[in-house]
Amino acid sequence: MTHEFFPRLEALLKNAYAPYSNFPVAAIIKGASGAIYSGVNVENAAYPQGWCAEASAIAAMVSSGETEIYELAVMAESDQICTPCGGCRQKIREFASEDLKIFCFGPDGLKATYTLGELLPYSFGPEHLL
Ligand code: THU
Repeated sequence: MTHEFFPRLEALLKNAYAPYSNFPVAAIIKGASGAIYSGVNVENAAYPQGWCAEASAIAAMVSSGETEIYELAVMAESDQICTPCGGCRQKIREFASEDLKIFCFGPDGLKATYTLGELLPYSFGPEHLL
């Protein structure tokens, strides 16, 4: 599966709008239907108004009528492992279970794989409100 993400992420990363941080990020979601949704970070001159690549991909998925994440991949132009930020972990949690696989890519390929449960343990989710 990861081999399928890599070329798509590479191409997508070029569309990231990150003129302020110079830290482009791309995210791809594979929905439970098998459909693929893409997102990039979109920064703003009013800095706090920018948002993350994962948030863009989630918005694309939900806009298409899908609400279940099957797999998620992130790529940054960095030697370090870029995991979803804290806020994005919670956004992902809304649409995924703890065993969701999150693939973290760098420019040269896959750097690490985590589950959502590893990145956001003891999390709060929709079922808490039932
Ligand atoms: N960013 C993401 O898009 N996703 C992450 O997982 C980490 C951070 C973005 C936000 C901001 O545009 C830039 O990276 C630097 O923080």
